[in-house]
Amino acid sequence: MKCRVCRGPAVIDVRRHNANFCAEHFVKLCRDQVAKAISEFNMLQPDDRVLIAVSGGKDSLALCDILDHLGYRVEGFYISLGIGEYSKESRGYVERFASQRDLPLIIDDLPIDYGFDIPHGSRAAKRAPCSACGLSKRHLFDEAARKGGYDVVATGHNLDDEAAVLMGNTLHWHTEYLGRQAPVLPAHDGFPKKVKPLVRLTERDTAAYCLLRNIDYMVEECPMAAGNRHLFYKSALNDIEVSSPGAKHSFYFGFLQRAAQHFADAAGQEMPAIRACSQCGAPCSSETCAFCRLVDRATAPVPIRMKPSRSSTKVKT
Ligand code: AMP
Ligand code: FES
Ligand code: ZN
Ligand code: ZN
Repeated sequence: MKCRVCRGPAVIDVRRHNANFCAEHFVKLCRDQVAKAISEFNMLQPDDRVLIAVSGGKDSLALCDILDHLGYRVEGFYISLGIGEYSKESRGYVERFASQRDLPLIIDDLPIDYGFDIPHGSRAAKRAPCSACGLSKRHLFDEAARKGGYDVVATGHNLDDEAAVLMGNTLHWHTEYLGRQAPVLPAHDGFPKKVKPLVRLTERDTAAYCLLRNIDYMVEECPMAAGNRHLFYKSALNDIEVSSPGAKHSFYFGFLQRAAQHFADAAGQEMPAIRACSQCGAPCSSETCAFCRLVDRATAPVPIRMKPSRSSTKVKT
């Protein structure tokens, strides 16, 4: 197995490119793919202050390394979600990475700052954990960018993530979501610009990139995500990819090039008028934003179940 570029011994095969690469040229390939996505979708300007949402996993840490290498001004943002050992460990990976690289890091702590964690808060609010978690993350990313004056928020969503979301939205014809599914969301109504520079890389690519760059990352997935439908779509797409290398890429990029614009109207129609949340001031479409409502429900005192007192128990007659 020889590297396509230098003909030296290869360390990895990339079947969708029908090529093998040595360590040096695989690392270069990953960086080139990110640079290509950035320029193709006009994601970042050279002077932008970029806030990278870092989870401690392979994707977001690889993203930090690549954007830093490409010369962007990056800072990290981590949210501690209160998911037991998983949160403690992932925070450790993020803090170690940041201190080794002198990466400025902002940390929000859901239990300390807002009084609830995802397992208990989602139960109290009667929401699925991943839904309460996603809502909290989106809100806190936006807030951190607004407060810190960042130009753009970058997340580590990769080709597998985006193709799986596309598959879910297509299977159920969620046309309004299809209209909004893009690697760049422009800033609007007080919401910051959001970008996904890893859309041209797969999970396998980012894992290999971290290995070759000596980036220590959290391997375990979130314990609350078990049974999540996206994991199922990802595995279905991986099965298709085995017999049809490149299928994920052509599914997602074919959609962006040939189909996404047909759903723009559906996305636009669903956009409600934006106002300021009466509690936190964030842009939202109702009196109080969804995150403040989640905080209220998740932190509401739990009613104590009383045993019936003797006087109130029914007496057989
Ligand atoms: P996920 O939703 O877990 O697939 O993560 C997608 C992206 O969201 C990651 O690549 C990160 O950029 C970001 N992210 C996920 N969890 C966190 C977290 N706890 N703190 C900050 N960013 C996160
Ligand atoms: Fe959000 Fe698992 S990381 S529920
Ligand atoms: Zn090579
Ligand atoms: Zn609010």
